[in-house]
Amino acid sequence: MRLKDKIAIVTGGGQGIGRATARIFAREGAKVAIASRIEAKLKQVKREIEAEGGQVLALPTDVSSAEQVKRLVEATQERFGGLDVLVNNAGIGLRKPLDEVEREDYDRVMGTNLRGMYQGCHFAVPLLKARGGGSIVNVSSVHGVDRSPLNMVYAATKGGIIGCTRALAAELAPSRIRVNTISPGAIWLEMYEENILKQVKAEAQAEFLKRFGEGMKDSHKYFQPLEMVGMPDDIAWCAVFLAADESRFVTGQNIVVDGGLTTYLSPFAPPGSREKLEKASEPMRAWMETHKVPAGKYGARSGLVAAATRKGGLRQLIWREAKAN
Ligand SMILES: NC(=O)c1ccc[n+]([C@@H]2O[C@H](COP(=O)([O-])OP(=O)(O)OC[C@H]3O[C@@H](n4cnc5c(N)ncnc54)[C@H](OP(=O)(O)O)[C@@H]3O)[C@@H](O)[C@H]2O)c1
Repeated sequence: MRLKDKIAIVTGGGQGIGRATARIFAREGAKVAIASRIEAKLKQVKREIEAEGGQVLALPTDVSSAEQVKRLVEATQERFGGLDVLVNNAGIGLRKPLDEVEREDYDRVMGTNLRGMYQGCHFAVPLLKARGGGSIVNVSSVHGVDRSPLNMVYAATKGGIIGCTRALAAELAPSRIRVNTISPGAIWLEMYEENILKQVKAEAQAEFLKRFGEGMKDSHKYFQPLEMVGMPDDIAWCAVFLAADESRFVTGQNIVVDGGLTTYLSPFAPPGSREKLEKASEPMRAWMETHKVPAGKYGARSGLVAAATRKGGLRQLIWREAKAN
């Protein structure tokens, strides 16, 4: 057990990468506090962890609220007696061209992704210091490293996280607090399937799922040179390493976990991937044409597979739309 007796907070723990991280942390022996806004999802993850014998505190929290983050840290201290690891994972995306980005969009995404991370660090660091050290893991994105059109605000938050990580790593090193970032690439989430389904008429959904359920997920393997589907557990295991004592000499770093996605400059996809994606998705594309399924606006993740399959390759699609705008 790599995290035996460690106490960790994982924000955004109600689903996706946060859920995977909390579950694997608990299996590795950590006591985990999970925090996100929707209580029902948190309770479900709590049940999953407890069913495997783990100890978990589930506290509904909006990370953009300083009061709520403070309460989360205090509740963790009360329940488990301290804190060793903070995973600032909660995040939201935004894919819009600049002229459509409203001040509210900007504040919402900044408030969650960047201010949420700052608030987590601000309230957690005194507890980490009291334990004689600890580890902070911030979740950024490949968009914090590489850029793509229509992603200005999201990219600003994710690039900001990497910058803050390096500054904090230097500042907190004397207190033996390590601070690192993980930048995930394209990670498959269950909600993508739900979002794609929403675009298909209700009466055709059952048929769509039967014919293409597996194909939706499978098409993700052509987004990067390593032809496999990136999963939340792939990020969670990197977080385990950064939280564990085995990484005691690692700080200020950004670990990109993307199957090689960023080894190709935008807008070029890995050789052959576009053809493979088109071939694999040909039946789905034909079906969508027949059923008049609209492509997702701006190739947003909600329409990712629909968009990619209809026009042949996500990057090419985004590039073309950006030029058209
Ligand atoms: N999946 C990918 O391909 C990918 C790629 C690069 C980076 N990332 C990053 O990975 C992190 C996790 O995302 P994910 O992929 O697991 O997506 P996800 O399934 O949408 O999970 C996001 C989590 O953050 C929570 N959250 C959102 N706003 C919040 C707020 N204001 N306060 C507290 N919790 C909040 C959500 O729960 P509630 O809605 O209940 O609050 C949810 O649990 C994010 O930072 C994301 O930017 C993901």
